[in-house]
Amino acid sequence: MHRMKTFITSLAGILIFCFYACESRSLTVQNRVSSPDGEIILTVKTQKGQLYYAAERKGRALVGQSKLGFRFQGMPDLGNNVEITGSESRSFNETWEQPWGERRLVENKYDELILYLQEKIGLRRRFNLVIRVFNDGFGFRYEIPEQTHLDSFKIMNEMTEFVMPEIHNAWWIPAYKDRFYESLFRHTAINQMDTVCTPLTMERTDGSYIAIHEANLTDYAAMNLYCVDSSKLTCDLTPWSSGVKVYGKTPFVTPWRVLIVADKPGDLISSYLILNLNEPCKIPDVSWIKPGKYIGIWWGMHQGFYTWSQGPRHGATTANTKKYIDFAAAHQLDGVLVEGWNRGWDGDWTQNGDSFSFTESYPDFDMEEITRYAKEKNVGMIGHHETGGAVTNYENQLEAAYSLYQRLGVNAVKTGYVNTLLDGKEMHKSQYGVRHYRKVVETAARYHIMVDIHEPVMPTGIQRTYPNLMTQEGVRGQEWDAWSTDGGNPPDHTTIIPFTRGLAGPMDFTPGTFNFSNHLLPQTRVRTTLAKQLALYVVLYSPLQMASDLIENYRNNKAFEFIMMVPVNWEESRVLDARIGDYVITARKDRNSEDWYVGAITDDSPRELTLCLSFLLYDKTYLAQIFKDGNDASWEKNPVDLTYNEIKVNSSDKLTLTLASGGGQAIRFTPAD
Ligand code: NOJ
Repeated sequence: MHRMKTFITSLAGILIFCFYACESRSLTVQNRVSSPDGEIILTVKTQKGQLYYAAERKGRALVGQSKLGFRFQGMPDLGNNVEITGSESRSFNETWEQPWGERRLVENKYDELILYLQEKIGLRRRFNLVIRVFNDGFGFRYEIPEQTHLDSFKIMNEMTEFVMPEIHNAWWIPAYKDRFYESLFRHTAINQMDTVCTPLTMERTDGSYIAIHEANLTDYAAMNLYCVDSSKLTCDLTPWSSGVKVYGKTPFVTPWRVLIVADKPGDLISSYLILNLNEPCKIPDVSWIKPGKYIGIWWGMHQGFYTWSQGPRHGATTANTKKYIDFAAAHQLDGVLVEGWNRGWDGDWTQNGDSFSFTESYPDFDMEEITRYAKEKNVGMIGHHETGGAVTNYENQLEAAYSLYQRLGVNAVKTGYVNTLLDGKEMHKSQYGVRHYRKVVETAARYHIMVDIHEPVMPTGIQRTYPNLMTQEGVRGQEWDAWSTDGGNPPDHTTIIPFTRGLAGPMDFTPGTFNFSNHLLPQTRVRTTLAKQLALYVVLYSPLQMASDLIENYRNNKAFEFIMMVPVNWEESRVLDARIGDYVITARKDRNSEDWYVGAITDDSPRELTLCLSFLLYDKTYLAQIFKDGNDASWEKNPVDLTYNEIKVNSSDKLTLTLASGGGQAIRFTPAD
């Protein structure tokens, strides 16, 4: 009896020990991670096996309890029957240097939590959730390691949610209705939205701002969001034509899901979270990557003066290209874009781009002679590769085309994908498209070629890893002011896009119109003043920045001096004041001098803004060269009225900026001594 008692006691002891051991293990599993400054806290939990996260900032809910997980084809969902089996955490802090960008040195400081998760029954599949919390937001991604019961899979949807604690107002564009992200932004409550693209920028009732996007989209479908139950934003991945969203195989990682939070709209722009969540540079020597300004045989086609295809008005002739090269050389511009130089433009290429050749030029475009001439004049050439969406045709020629370019010294391409679907079947932002764009950037890197992608998938910071990916369209650019039948981009458009599309990465918006008449569509035109065109060079960031007008319109125009002087590579950038949709004042410091540049723009409303010069060095006097709207300027009645003046200023001065309707102001500050 005594032995029996002893046995029972020891069994109980073992069980109690085991219970405590298990309990203490689960107690040590960390499920919370804060930002380095402690203001943002992200918590993960399981409830009846379903995995959730939630986040707060300064003690106030930022994201309510939101689901995580996946839906597969032919396999049970993953994430609704799991337990947290372990965790790892670390703090990270580095400062890295960008070869080009809006600032040279970027701080990458976060606290990280990795949660190890496993299904409680059934296949016992495993996955990890990696979370990084920064002072200005957070990112998380899923990792699916190699394992017995999970090898190849088809993701039918990602269950990720962002439950907003209230019905925020948002600036958004529809995910599927328009093409190529070339939409005007709508401004509504989130429960009034369509399925939308990211970045999705929202305003909270406390006056702060949130933007949701993704980082490092490499072999996955682009994320869209839709709102259910009044304020729950749910992930909607772009499908393949088969209906599958993502074809994957373990080991597998998803892009980062990113939320940026800011007290002022400008702080969204000066967040480097998306770049920080990308991998460091994979190009060992970046000395061949050179940001710059370019002109192009381009606007002439959009305005109907030239044609892309051969004929009496063919734009890309040897003589015309040399004229553009001469102009670039004489005005310190770095490059010339040439469109319509290659075979394939005849017929309806927007329906089928299979006839495009990327190596054969039209007979009136002497490639060898033009590239020789450009080299002699020290001007770079940007070759245009419009694919008409026929990506297989392009991929089949990639190596040949890029090696030809490398031999000729053409160190940049502008690619284009004008067609509703790629290869007649897949969406640009599907995994099919994502894989193609990545292949182009990686192949171009091997041949030392910089890339400017039009009709892209929305940028996600990949330029940190491949800094030859310079700029992309994915925005309703200035070309719409040539042929859009709705009158062109409204004056507030450029006061919205820096805070929405601009958060994703550099934009090839193509500013620089000096002649505002549109002889093809007189009701449609660039709806800005000339001074605002100049200010856009500071407000809209692109490391390859176009001066888009015909060169004839630049000759002998004082305003062109600003385009000649404005840099495209910055030591640092600050949004000094802004109201999304109303106005923006941006200041940037040149990377190669002590000069600062300021661009201020407004929407339709004329306004007076105060510019505090406290960003200048306190002990220096500066010469301010001011390009501003003239007294009679307005986008509608007198866009070209521009005044130039020079004054001496110092850091304690305040300038009053008077902006006309649709107007702007561009200023260069140079140390005077
Ligand atoms: C659309 C692009 O955005 C534009 O820049 C280009 O000129 C045309 N496609 C033709 O490729």
